[in-house]
Amino acid sequence: MGGKEKKCIGIIFGGESNEHYVSISSAKTVFEALISKTNIDRFRVKAFYINENGVWLNNDQSLKLLKENSRNATTDKYQLLPKGEINFLNNIEFQSIDIWFPLLHGLNGEDGAIHGLLKFTQKPMVGGGILGSALGMDKILMKKIFSHLEIPQVNYLAIQNQNLGDDSVKNNLSVEIIEKLNLPVFIKPANSGSSLGISKAKNKSEIIRALQKAYAIDSRIIVEEGLDVRELECGIIGNLKLYSSEIGEVSYSTDWYDYNSKYSMNNQIIIPADIDSQISEQIKKIAIRSCRELNIYGFARVDFFLEKISNKIFLNEINTIPGFTSKSMFPMLWEASGLNINQLVAKLIDISLD
Ligand SMILES: Nc1ncnc2c1ncn2[C@@H]1O[C@H](COP(=O)(O)OP(=O)(O)O)[C@@H](O)[C@H]1O
Ligand SMILES: [Mg+2]
Repeated sequence: MGGKEKKCIGIIFGGESNEHYVSISSAKTVFEALISKTNIDRFRVKAFYINENGVWLNNDQSLKLLKENSRNATTDKYQLLPKGEINFLNNIEFQSIDIWFPLLHGLNGEDGAIHGLLKFTQKPMVGGGILGSALGMDKILMKKIFSHLEIPQVNYLAIQNQNLGDDSVKNNLSVEIIEKLNLPVFIKPANSGSSLGISKAKNKSEIIRALQKAYAIDSRIIVEEGLDVRELECGIIGNLKLYSSEIGEVSYSTDWYDYNSKYSMNNQIIIPADIDSQISEQIKKIAIRSCRELNIYGFARVDFFLEKISNKIFLNEINTIPGFTSKSMFPMLWEASGLNINQLVAKLIDISLD
């Protein structure tokens, strides 16, 4: 194939999100796969880096970042724009892109924001659309829909439209939580990621503190019964038809999978997970069904709890732009399912053209 027929892939990464640095690692992995020997004849890359202040860098600067090894040489160099200015359509070469590959994890990206923006370019995109992305990100709406569909999930309470700045409101809520749910509970911001803002609480004072912590991130909060669980994850790819990967298990040495344990080196990923084939089939079925119901396609990672005492499955959450670093579960699941990283990235692009 000659250079002219190469498809130009626009990678968008970084972003105003607490998962900024994970996004840079994910983008590097995808970039390397696109310029690998297997793919270099098919693709060329333009890169769009958004720094932590929301400033868009041009293609040269962004590509340089993807080729750089050090992690911190990045944002320090590019400061805030003068107050009140935005630059996201200035000097940004949107025109030459054939296919978008957004890799913004968490807020201001994975929540559908980037999908909405890119829709106006009328170019295909790896991943889903606005609706599925927004629903996948929002733990309250996701759970309400799954309750309606009777997809198994842990008992929960949704908190919204309440002023948690007021102590008596927090006090009343904590009483209600203790009345309605079994302790301990997990208290989470409805929209966050990487376990940020989440606490496990086992009494009233811990619940009040946990509400406060979650409220600092999002005024919408979800409270769940905390179970003693194994954590299982399933990869999904596809468009008109969705395919599931092998099931993986993540195990860690801490009490639960909090921020520090997520990014520590002590986690173990086991693929395929050591579970009954029946459970594995059930997980794959629920993973595909839940994505279908929320209009999630392209790619996603669906996370489950397997309660140790009952061996019951509960859907925990769906990530619509799953971590894509070389050590992330999503690419490892597909590697175990017969697609190496270079094949996976090419496949995701083919799927976006479906
Ligand atoms: N109901 C629950 N029971 C037991 N552990 C939980 C529960 N909810 C969350 N956790 C623990 O907290 C982690 C993060 O929760 P999760 O809802 O996946 O948030 P995030 O979107 O930040 O990944 C989970 O991986 C798990 O270890
Ligand atoms: Mg999670």
